[in-house]
Amino acid sequence: MIEIIIQQDYLAMSQCAAQIIAQVVIAKPSCVLGLATGATPIGTYQELIRMHKQGLDLSGVRSFNLDEYLGLGLEPEKAYADDQSYERFMQEEFLNHVNIKKENIFVPQGKSKDPEKFCSWYEEQIKQSGGIDLQLLGIGGDGHWAFNEPGSSLSSRTRVVKLADQTIEDNYQSFFKKAKIEKKQMPRQAITMGIGTILESRQLLMIANGAKKAPVIAKALEGPVSSEITASAIQIFKGDAKVVLDKSAAFELKRCRIEV
Ligand code: PGA
Repeated sequence: MIEIIIQQDYLAMSQCAAQIIAQVVIAKPSCVLGLATGATPIGTYQELIRMHKQGLDLSGVRSFNLDEYLGLGLEPEKAYADDQSYERFMQEEFLNHVNIKKENIFVPQGKSKDPEKFCSWYEEQIKQSGGIDLQLLGIGGDGHWAFNEPGSSLSSRTRVVKLADQTIEDNYQSFFKKAKIEKKQMPRQAITMGIGTILESRQLLMIANGAKKAPVIAKALEGPVSSEITASAIQIFKGDAKVVLDKSAAFELKRCRIEV
Protein backbone atom coordinates (compact mmCIF):
# COMPACT_ATOMS: atom_id res chain seq x y z
CA MET A 1 0.00 0.00 0.00
CA ILE A 2 1.20 3.51 -0.79
CA GLU A 3 0.45 6.27 1.68
CA ILE A 4 0.93 9.77 0.31
CA ILE A 5 1.50 12.48 2.90
CA ILE A 6 1.49 16.08 1.72
CA GLN A 7 3.20 18.63 3.90
CA GLN A 8 3.20 22.41 3.75
CA ASP A 9 6.84 22.98 2.83
CA TYR A 10 10.35 21.50 2.70
CA LEU A 11 10.93 21.78 6.45
CA ALA A 12 7.67 20.00 7.30
CA MET A 13 8.41 17.33 4.68
CA SER A 14 11.85 16.78 6.20
CA GLN A 15 10.51 16.62 9.75
CA CYS A 16 7.84 14.12 8.75
CA ALA A 17 10.35 11.89 6.90
CA ALA A 18 12.77 11.99 9.83
CA GLN A 19 9.96 11.01 12.22
CA ILE A 20 9.14 7.98 10.08
CA ILE A 21 12.81 6.91 10.08
CA ALA A 22 13.16 7.54 13.82
CA GLN A 23 10.11 5.36 14.51
CA VAL A 24 11.77 2.46 12.69
CA VAL A 25 14.99 2.97 14.68
CA ILE A 26 13.12 3.13 17.99
CA ALA A 27 11.05 0.03 17.20
CA LYS A 28 14.13 -1.91 16.05
CA PRO A 29 17.42 -0.42 17.29
CA SER A 30 19.39 -2.90 15.14
CA CYS A 31 17.53 -1.94 11.97
CA VAL A 32 19.04 -1.69 8.51
CA LEU A 33 18.48 1.67 6.84
CA GLY A 34 18.87 2.30 3.13
CA LEU A 35 20.12 5.86 2.68
CA ALA A 36 20.00 8.29 -0.22
CA THR A 37 21.98 11.30 -1.40
CA GLY A 38 20.84 14.42 -3.26
CA ALA A 39 19.51 17.83 -2.31
CA THR A 40 16.15 16.44 -1.15
CA PRO A 41 17.24 14.39 1.91
CA ILE A 42 19.55 17.06 3.41
CA GLY A 43 16.73 18.43 5.60
CA THR A 44 15.73 14.92 6.69
CA TYR A 45 19.31 14.26 7.79
CA GLN A 46 19.44 17.59 9.64
CA GLU A 47 16.30 16.65 11.50
CA LEU A 48 17.66 13.19 12.37
CA ILE A 49 20.88 14.82 13.63
CA ARG A 50 18.76 17.11 15.81
CA MET A 51 16.87 14.08 17.16
CA HIS A 52 20.15 12.28 17.78
CA LYS A 53 21.38 15.24 19.87
CA GLN A 54 18.18 14.90 21.87
CA GLY A 55 18.77 11.21 22.50
CA LEU A 56 17.90 9.18 19.39
CA ASP A 57 20.41 6.33 19.52
CA LEU A 58 21.63 5.01 16.18
CA SER A 59 24.46 2.87 17.57
CA GLY A 60 22.79 -0.39 16.52
CA VAL A 61 21.88 0.78 13.01
CA ARG A 62 23.45 -0.56 9.83
CA SER A 63 23.23 1.61 6.70
CA PHE A 64 23.51 0.94 2.99
CA ASN A 65 23.66 3.78 0.50
CA LEU A 66 21.97 3.56 -2.84
CA ASP A 67 24.72 4.65 -5.17
CA GLU A 68 28.08 6.26 -5.91
CA TYR A 69 29.80 7.75 -8.94
CA LEU A 70 32.23 5.38 -10.58
CA GLY A 71 35.76 6.67 -9.98
CA LEU A 72 34.84 8.73 -6.89
CA GLY A 73 34.72 7.76 -3.24
CA LEU A 74 37.07 6.56 -0.55
CA GLU A 75 40.71 6.08 -1.39
CA PRO A 76 41.35 2.42 -0.55
CA GLU A 77 42.82 2.08 2.98
CA LYS A 78 42.24 5.79 3.75
CA ALA A 79 39.49 7.71 5.49
CA TYR A 80 39.69 10.42 2.83
CA ALA A 81 36.83 10.65 0.32
CA ASP A 82 36.70 12.72 -2.88
CA ASP A 83 34.89 16.06 -2.62
CA GLN A 84 31.98 15.29 -4.94
CA SER A 85 31.62 11.66 -3.94
CA TYR A 86 28.48 10.42 -2.28
CA GLU A 87 30.72 8.96 0.40
CA ARG A 88 31.83 12.51 1.30
CA PHE A 89 28.25 13.81 1.05
CA MET A 90 27.08 11.19 3.54
CA GLN A 91 29.94 11.92 5.94
CA GLU A 92 29.31 15.66 5.91
CA GLU A 93 25.53 15.73 5.79
CA PHE A 94 24.79 12.90 8.19
CA LEU A 95 27.22 10.20 9.25
CA ASN A 96 29.83 12.42 10.96
CA HIS A 97 27.09 13.80 13.19
CA VAL A 98 25.42 10.62 14.47
CA ASN A 99 26.57 7.46 16.20
CA ILE A 100 26.22 4.79 13.51
CA LYS A 101 29.36 2.66 13.90
CA LYS A 102 31.88 2.99 11.06
CA GLU A 103 31.95 -0.75 10.46
CA ASN A 104 28.17 -0.71 9.96
CA ILE A 105 28.20 1.94 7.22
CA PHE A 106 28.14 0.74 3.61
CA VAL A 107 28.44 3.06 0.61
CA PRO A 108 29.14 1.62 -2.85
CA GLN A 109 32.87 1.91 -3.54
CA GLY A 110 33.27 3.93 -6.72
CA LYS A 111 37.03 3.37 -6.61
CA SER A 112 36.78 -0.38 -6.38
CA LYS A 113 39.33 -2.10 -8.65
CA ASP A 114 36.70 -4.61 -9.75
CA PRO A 115 33.34 -2.78 -9.68
CA GLU A 116 31.36 -5.75 -11.03
CA LYS A 117 32.65 -8.00 -8.27
CA PHE A 118 32.00 -5.23 -5.77
CA CYS A 119 28.34 -5.08 -6.86
CA SER A 120 27.81 -8.78 -6.07
CA TRP A 121 29.60 -8.32 -2.75
CA TYR A 122 27.32 -5.37 -1.89
CA GLU A 123 24.19 -7.39 -2.62
CA GLU A 124 25.55 -10.16 -0.42
CA GLN A 125 26.20 -7.72 2.44
CA ILE A 126 22.60 -6.49 2.28
CA LYS A 127 21.38 -10.08 2.38
CA GLN A 128 23.68 -11.02 5.27
CA SER A 129 22.44 -8.00 7.22
CA GLY A 130 18.93 -9.43 7.02
CA GLY A 131 17.69 -7.05 4.30
CA ILE A 132 16.81 -3.37 4.40
CA ASP A 133 14.10 -2.40 6.89
CA LEU A 134 13.50 1.05 5.47
CA GLN A 135 14.84 2.49 2.24
CA LEU A 136 14.88 6.28 1.89
CA LEU A 137 14.50 7.46 -1.71
CA GLY A 138 14.49 10.70 -3.65
CA ILE A 139 13.32 10.84 -7.26
CA GLY A 140 15.32 12.15 -10.18
CA GLY A 141 13.94 14.63 -12.71
CA ASP A 142 13.84 11.72 -15.18
CA GLY A 143 11.96 9.53 -12.70
CA HIS A 144 14.94 7.53 -11.50
CA TRP A 145 15.46 5.86 -8.15
CA ALA A 146 19.13 5.89 -7.25
CA PHE A 147 20.89 5.82 -10.65
CA ASN A 148 18.33 3.52 -12.27
CA GLU A 149 17.90 5.66 -15.34
CA PRO A 150 15.02 5.35 -17.85
CA GLY A 151 15.14 1.91 -19.46
CA SER A 152 16.51 0.14 -16.37
CA SER A 153 14.80 -3.16 -15.72
CA LEU A 154 12.45 -3.16 -12.77
CA SER A 155 14.14 -6.38 -11.65
CA SER A 156 17.68 -4.94 -11.91
CA ARG A 157 20.28 -5.60 -9.21
CA THR A 158 23.29 -3.62 -7.97
CA ARG A 159 25.44 -2.88 -11.02
CA VAL A 160 27.51 -0.39 -12.98
CA VAL A 161 25.40 1.98 -15.08
CA LYS A 162 25.71 4.93 -17.46
CA LEU A 163 24.19 8.20 -16.28
CA ALA A 164 21.43 9.83 -18.33
CA ASP A 165 22.09 13.30 -19.78
CA GLN A 166 19.35 14.79 -17.61
CA THR A 167 20.93 13.38 -14.45
CA ILE A 168 24.31 14.81 -15.41
CA GLU A 169 22.67 18.19 -15.99
CA ASP A 170 20.63 18.06 -12.73
CA ASN A 171 23.60 17.02 -10.61
CA TYR A 172 25.81 19.59 -12.31
CA GLN A 173 23.35 22.33 -11.35
CA SER A 174 22.88 21.05 -7.77
CA PHE A 175 26.45 20.16 -6.84
CA PHE A 176 29.30 20.30 -9.36
CA LYS A 177 28.72 23.86 -10.59
CA LYS A 178 29.06 25.24 -7.04
CA ALA A 179 32.38 23.41 -6.73
CA LYS A 180 33.49 25.01 -10.03
CA ILE A 181 33.84 21.64 -11.74
CA GLU A 182 33.14 21.67 -15.46
CA LYS A 183 30.34 19.50 -16.75
CA LYS A 184 32.64 17.61 -19.08
CA GLN A 185 34.70 16.52 -16.06
CA MET A 186 31.75 14.98 -14.27
CA PRO A 187 31.58 11.19 -13.85
CA ARG A 188 29.49 9.51 -16.55
CA GLN A 189 29.03 6.17 -14.80
CA ALA A 190 27.99 4.99 -11.38
CA ILE A 191 27.38 1.99 -9.16
CA THR A 192 23.74 1.74 -8.16
CA MET A 193 21.48 -0.60 -6.26
CA GLY A 194 18.95 -2.00 -8.72
CA ILE A 195 15.20 -1.54 -8.68
CA GLY A 196 14.85 -5.24 -7.82
CA THR A 197 17.22 -4.70 -4.88
CA ILE A 198 15.23 -1.68 -3.66
CA LEU A 199 11.91 -3.54 -3.96
CA GLU A 200 13.18 -6.19 -1.53
CA SER A 201 13.24 -3.61 1.29
CA ARG A 202 10.58 -4.06 3.94
CA GLN A 203 9.49 -0.41 3.84
CA LEU A 204 10.02 2.43 1.35
CA LEU A 205 10.04 6.14 2.09
CA MET A 206 10.14 8.41 -0.95
CA ILE A 207 10.49 12.15 -0.51
CA ALA A 208 10.25 15.01 -3.01
CA ASN A 209 9.87 18.76 -2.87
CA GLY A 210 9.47 21.68 -5.23
CA ALA A 211 7.41 22.37 -8.36
CA LYS A 212 10.14 20.94 -10.60
CA LYS A 213 9.36 17.47 -9.25
CA ALA A 214 5.55 17.75 -9.64
CA PRO A 215 5.29 16.24 -13.17
CA VAL A 216 7.55 13.29 -12.40
CA ILE A 217 5.84 12.59 -9.07
CA ALA A 218 2.48 12.43 -10.88
CA LYS A 219 3.96 10.06 -13.48
CA ALA A 220 5.56 7.80 -10.87
CA LEU A 221 2.48 7.57 -8.65
CA GLU A 222 -0.39 7.80 -11.10
CA GLY A 223 1.07 6.88 -14.48
CA PRO A 224 1.77 3.41 -15.87
CA VAL A 225 4.39 1.25 -14.17
CA SER A 226 7.28 1.49 -16.59
CA SER A 227 11.02 1.16 -16.77
CA GLU A 228 10.95 4.64 -18.34
CA ILE A 229 10.08 6.04 -14.88
CA THR A 230 11.82 3.61 -12.57
CA ALA A 231 10.29 5.18 -9.45
CA SER A 232 6.90 3.97 -10.74
CA ALA A 233 8.03 0.60 -9.35
CA ILE A 234 6.63 1.91 -6.05
CA GLN A 235 3.21 0.89 -7.43
CA ILE A 236 4.22 -2.79 -7.49
CA PHE A 237 5.97 -2.71 -4.10
CA LYS A 238 4.46 -5.34 -1.82
CA GLY A 239 5.31 -3.77 1.54
CA ASP A 240 4.43 -0.49 3.19
CA ALA A 241 5.43 2.54 1.10
CA LYS A 242 5.17 6.12 2.26
CA VAL A 243 5.60 9.14 0.02
CA VAL A 244 6.18 12.46 1.77
CA LEU A 245 5.85 15.53 -0.45
CA ASP A 246 5.67 19.25 -0.03
CA LYS A 247 2.65 20.99 -1.60
CA SER A 248 4.54 22.01 -4.73
CA ALA A 249 5.74 18.51 -5.55
CA ALA A 250 2.20 17.16 -5.01
CA PHE A 251 0.58 19.77 -7.23
CA GLU A 252 -0.05 17.54 -10.28
CA LEU A 253 -1.45 14.55 -8.36
CA LYS A 254 -5.10 13.90 -9.11
CA ARG A 255 -5.89 11.05 -6.69
CA CYS A 256 -4.95 9.67 -3.26
CA ARG A 257 -4.08 12.88 -1.43
CA ILE A 258 -3.69 12.91 2.35
CA GLU A 259 -2.93 16.44 3.44
CA VAL A 260 -1.70 17.14 6.94
P1 PGA B 1 17.77 15.55 -5.73
O1 PGA B 1 18.01 14.19 -6.49
O2 PGA B 1 17.38 15.19 -4.33
O3 PGA B 1 19.09 16.27 -5.78
O4 PGA B 1 16.69 16.26 -6.46
C1 PGA B 1 17.12 13.15 -6.31
C2 PGA B 1 17.57 11.94 -7.07
O5 PGA B 1 18.25 12.09 -8.10
O6 PGA B 1 17.22 10.85 -6.65
